[in-house]
Amino acid sequence: MRSKRNKTIDFSLDEASPTLLEQILHPTENIKDAWDRIINGDSFKIMTALSPRQVDLALIDPPYNLNKQYDGLNFKKMTTGQYQKYTQKWIDLLKPLLKDNASVYVFSDWATSMVLAPVLEQNFIIQNRITWQREKGRGSQKNWKNGMEDIWFLTTDPNNYTFNVNQVKQRRQVIAPYKQDGVAKDWQSTSTGKFRDTLPSNFWDDISIPYWSMPENTGHPTQKPEKLLAKIILASSNPGDFVFDPFAGSGSSLVTAAKLNRHYLGIEQSLLYCAWGQYRLNQVKNDQSIQGYTDGVFWERNTLAAQRKIMRHKN
Ligand SMILES: C[S@@+](CC[C@H](N)C(=O)[O-])C[C@H]1O[C@@H](n2cnc3c(N)ncnc32)[C@H](O)[C@@H]1O
Repeated sequence: MRSKRNKTIDFSLDEASPTLLEQILHPTENIKDAWDRIINGDSFKIMTALSPRQVDLALIDPPYNLNKQYDGLNFKKMTTGQYQKYTQKWIDLLKPLLKDNASVYVFSDWATSMVLAPVLEQNFIIQNRITWQREKGRGSQKNWKNGMEDIWFLTTDPNNYTFNVNQVKQRRQVIAPYKQDGVAKDWQSTSTGKFRDTLPSNFWDDISIPYWSMPENTGHPTQKPEKLLAKIILASSNPGDFVFDPFAGSGSSLVTAAKLNRHYLGIEQSLLYCAWGQYRLNQVKNDQSIQGYTDGVFWERNTLAAQRKIMRHKN
């Protein structure tokens, strides 16, 4: 029997309400200028039908170059050349959709990155490569466990792009609080401890993958956490901007964009994943919280009690 604390969204299509399914767009409908929707279909076909130059921020979480099942649909590991062609294909379709000052983030594992990087470099300005230490990973007897992912930060223009660094500060516990003439240097003492709000680096170790007791968790095999997407969306877009995700999965990027008052459009081939995403989107009007992002800053792992205390004080 499933634990009461298990919040995973994993209903079947038979269990989905007809009203929920009706909210999902299909390629036969008018999709050209669709905003704030999920489209169920093949991105490679749908992207050709969308209006150009609308996207401020594209979040690309493509199938990594691995054998993987997505709701019964198989993605088969390709040769280096084939995966590079596959990547170039979605890039060619994406580029006309981007505004001149757009940013693009691409997710990958280390092995896929080796194949991906030369193609990204030919098409975009590579601004950075973020390492996400996602903590969980499958252990191996003959190799090091894979506990990292890459996130490539790309722009179309070398200088003209949005980057709101002050909106993505990380609140860190101060281990050795230093005082100068009796005054705290660069840190603050709060009811829950001594903290410093720091500028974020390209090493992210404060975000775990969604797990079963989190309301955002779904049955999707490679779901990204809302906290991770919130960092990207806050840094690289402004309220009212348009966020696009052509491999939307369970809708994590769309939900996070909606919570942060951005417009969004997602495309996903699996109707089941679209339904989970739409279900999550429908809940945004009741709950805009993003676990780990409280009081306008990103918190370290295992600080939920302190975050709750701060919010109780504020309320
Ligand atoms: C790595 S997962 C994305 C997970 C997503 N970021 C989330 O948080 O749930 C890639 C997704 O792309 C979808 N996909 C693969 N090829 C596609 C295509 N040609 N068109 C639309 N969706 C596709 C898969 O079904 C899968 O859900």
